[in-house]
Amino acid sequence: MSEAGAMTDKEHPDDVRAASLVTANRRGRTTTRLNEINRRFADLAGSAARPVLDLGCAFGVAAHAALASGATVHANDIDPAHLEATARDAPPGTSDRLHLAPGAFPAELDFAPESLSLVHASNLLNFLSGAEIEAGFAKIAAWLEPGGRFLSISGSPYAANIRAFGPVYEANRAAGLAWPGECHDLPAVSDDPTISELPAFLHLVDPDVLSRAARAAGLEVEEARFFHRAGTPDYIALDGRENVVFVARKPIPEDEKGQMHP
Ligand SMILES: C[S@@+](CC[C@H](N)C(=O)[O-])C[C@H]1O[C@@H](n2cnc3c(N)ncnc32)[C@H](O)[C@@H]1O
Repeated sequence: MSEAGAMTDKEHPDDVRAASLVTANRRGRTTTRLNEINRRFADLAGSAARPVLDLGCAFGVAAHAALASGATVHANDIDPAHLEATARDAPPGTSDRLHLAPGAFPAELDFAPESLSLVHASNLLNFLSGAEIEAGFAKIAAWLEPGGRFLSISGSPYAANIRAFGPVYEANRAAGLAWPGECHDLPAVSDDPTISELPAFLHLVDPDVLSRAARAAGLEVEEARFFHRAGTPDYIALDGRENVVFVARKPIPEDEKGQMHP
C-alpha cells in the first residue's frame, strides 16, 4: 500500500532506501521522489489563482514541488518535526509563500471558505477513519474555490505486505460494511516486518468509498480507480491495484461558468 508500509532500513534494498524516508511518528514512509499525483498537484499549482494545501506533507516532497512551480502553499502535518523539515528544506527564495499548518486533519485544521485552489493528500487518507474522511471531505469542499480540485493517492487493500487483509476486506464489502477497509488491528492480520512502521489502525480505501464520501460532500468525482504507481517497491507490489487515485472537483455554479477557473 504505497509508502504507508515499509521495511526497516536494514531490510531495505539500497534503491528503496534512497527513494523513501521513515516518518518520525510511525506513519509509514514518505517518498523522496514525486509520484504521479504529487506531480499533477505541482503542475496544477503552478497556475493556481489561490493558495494550495498539502495534507500530511511529511518532509515536504510535494509541497516543495508546488512552491517551485510558483504557488503559495499551506503545508499541513500532524507532526511538528515534519513541518520543521519542510520549512528548512524548502526551495531557496520560497519561504514567504510557505505557510505551515500544524494539526490533525480534519479536526484541527481550518481555512476560510473558497480560499484554496487545490488540496492534495498523498498517502494520508489511510490514517483516517471513515467518519474522519467524511468530515474531511466536507471541509475540503468548503475550502475549495468553485472549480478547485482535491487530488489524492492512497493505499488500497491489495498490497503484498498486507495481503492477509484482502480477504477480510472482501468479506466486509460483501457484508455491506460502509467502510470495509478499516483495519483496527493491523498486527493481528499481518506479520510482515513492514507493519512495525505503521499504527495499529489503518484504513485501506477503494474507489467506491471515496466516491460516495466525496459526492455526499458535494464534490464531483473526476477520477477514482485502482492504480499501479511507477516505482512501487517489491514489498508492496501485488497485482497492479496497490493504490487508489482519487480526484474530485468542486462544481462551478451555472452563473460562474465561462469565468476563469483552474
Ligand atoms: C505515509 S506519510 C506520506 C507523506 C507524503 N504525503 C508522501 O506522500 O510521501 C503520511 C504523513 O501524514 C501525516 N499524518 C498522519 N495523520 C495525519 C492527520 N490526521 N493530519 C495531518 N497529517 C497526518 C504523518 O505525520 C505523515 O507525515
